[in-house]
Formats: sequence, C-alpha cells, structure tokens
Amino acid sequence: MKPKVFIAKPISRQVENYIAEHCEYKIWREEERIPDDILFREIQDVQGLMIPKAKVTESFIKQAPNLKIISHISVGYDTLDTDLMAKHKIIGTHTPYVLDHTVADLIFGLILSSSRRISQLDHYVKDGKWNKLDDPSFLSKDVHHATLGIIGMGRIGEQVAKRAAQGFDMNVLYYNRRPRPEVEEKYGLKRESMEQLLKKSDFVLTMVPLTEETHHLIGARELKQMKEDALLINASRGQVVDEKALIHALKEGIIGGAGLDVFEKEPVDPSNSLLKMDNVVTTPHIGSATAQAREAMALKAAENLVAGVTGGKPKNIVKELKHLG
Ligand code: DGY
Repeated sequence: MKPKVFIAKPISRQVENYIAEHCEYKIWREEERIPDDILFREIQDVQGLMIPKAKVTESFIKQAPNLKIISHISVGYDTLDTDLMAKHKIIGTHTPYVLDHTVADLIFGLILSSSRRISQLDHYVKDGKWNKLDDPSFLSKDVHHATLGIIGMGRIGEQVAKRAAQGFDMNVLYYNRRPRPEVEEKYGLKRESMEQLLKKSDFVLTMVPLTEETHHLIGARELKQMKEDALLINASRGQVVDEKALIHALKEGIIGGAGLDVFEKEPVDPSNSLLKMDNVVTTPHIGSATAQAREAMALKAAENLVAGVTGGKPKNIVKELKHLG
C-alpha cells in the first residue's frame, strides 16, 4: 500500500505525477492559503505533509499521529518548531540551492529600484508629471562603484556579492560569524565588524535566517550607525529588522530609504507607514517567485517528501533535525 500524504498548495502536473507514482495523496488546489481547520482535518491520517509554511504546535502534531515528515516548500524554515519536531521524531526538510540566483536577482531589483527611484518615477511618468522632473531633488544615487554591506554571507549573499562585484564594480563588505575566505578571494570581498559595515556602506543588505539571535538584528542603534543617505535592503525575514525603529529612522532622515520584500507582519497591514513613504520600495515577499524557481522548489520538496515516507533519506533535512534522517 502506498503511504498517504497531503499537499497543502497547488503544484504543477509534473510534480503531482511524481508524487502520485509513490504516494496516495490529497491536494489543496485553491489559490488562497489553506485554512487551519481544513489542514488539521486533512493531516489526520497522513505520513507526509508538503506545505509552504507550517506553524507546528503541540495541537498540530496531535492531529497527525502518523506524521513522519513535513516537507517545507521554502528555504527559510523559521516557522518549524524543530525542538518539538525532534521530540515527536518528525523530520523537517526545506528547499535550498534552487532559489539562490532568483532571490539574488530580486535583491538587485530592490537595490536598483530604491536607489534609482524606479517605481516612484514610473508613477510620475504615468501620472503625466514628466515636466516636473527637472527639479534636482529627483536626482538619484549611483549603484555602480558604491559600497554594499551584506549581513549574512550564505548562498544567496554570495550570489548578491557576485553580481555587485563583477557586474556593478561595487566595493563589497560582509559581516558573517564564520569567515568565508574562498568567497572573499573569488569576489574581492572584505569581512568587517557589524559596526564598520554599517558605517561604511551605501547599501546595507540583511540576508540572515530568522532565529532568536537575528530577531531585530537591525534596530535603532544599528540604524543610527548607518550613513544618512544609506539604503536598507531586506529580503530575508521581516523580523530581522525592528520595523518601528526603521519607520522612525526613515521619518527622521536617519537613513536615506529602504527596499523591502519582507515585513514583520505579512501580508503587510495597508495602514503601515512604510507604505506611505516615497523613499521605500516594497514587494510582497516574492524573492523566489519566478515560475522556474517555484517549480524547482516544488520538485525538490516532492523528492524530500517521497523519500521521507518511503524509507529513503531526504536530501534536505534541516540541520537541527539531521539526526532523525
Ligand atoms: C523562502 O524560501 O524562504 C522564501 O523566503 C519564501 O518563503
């Protein structure tokens, strides 16, 4: 008998066929996020769950006594309670590697759009205000040869560094607990203390996973250390930046602007002051949202799921749960 799994998100025919070869499955086909009550009902007799984000709690686990694996369709897995999963011997997997270039591209989009004010000026053109653009206040900020400070030199940080150094002749600094000499050599990067990076950078990018240590890593003190015209770019997790402190810093001119793909609360509240600021560019957490990357993530998640319910070893078990694999 095939193991039972539940897929909590629409996926392509190709990925569905792959799962169907190995598993008996049910799938949530609606575009909106699956409501908790339906999810709780569907996981009652399954061994595997494939889902973009799972808020795993004791009551969630109680609903699914046969669950062996949660296959997350994302690289970040801050919503998984890995201690709880370890206690119940439930494997958790994620989807690294396949989205690195895609997220790095989006980050460059935010850098370019916030510095060259692309979305703001797009509105000017469309609103028929072209003739007002002679005002020097419309002059924007060069990206090429500027200094980019990357906080967190993982795989995505490395792809951003490559684009910055090799494509835009930028001076690239990074802050990472572990030195990355091979990346330093490859792209001419310099490792700095957090304080020096904040002081020297024209663009500061946060690219760290969300953990207890990185929660509000950038707060009022860090924002004050940045240059007055520096731009903060965040495409990792909203909670890495203290949003209240950021709003204050932007209102008071402590920093120059921001490019944000992520927010402390998502979807962002329409009344959030960040959405009213001309010097803030926003996107709705779409770092990995290209057709190609999302398909590759779904396939990887499906491979992890199938391995987890058929006695194989999933390739991408999150590091905190590797001992269960
Ligand atoms: C990821 O894969 O972690 C992206 O941020 C989407 O959640």
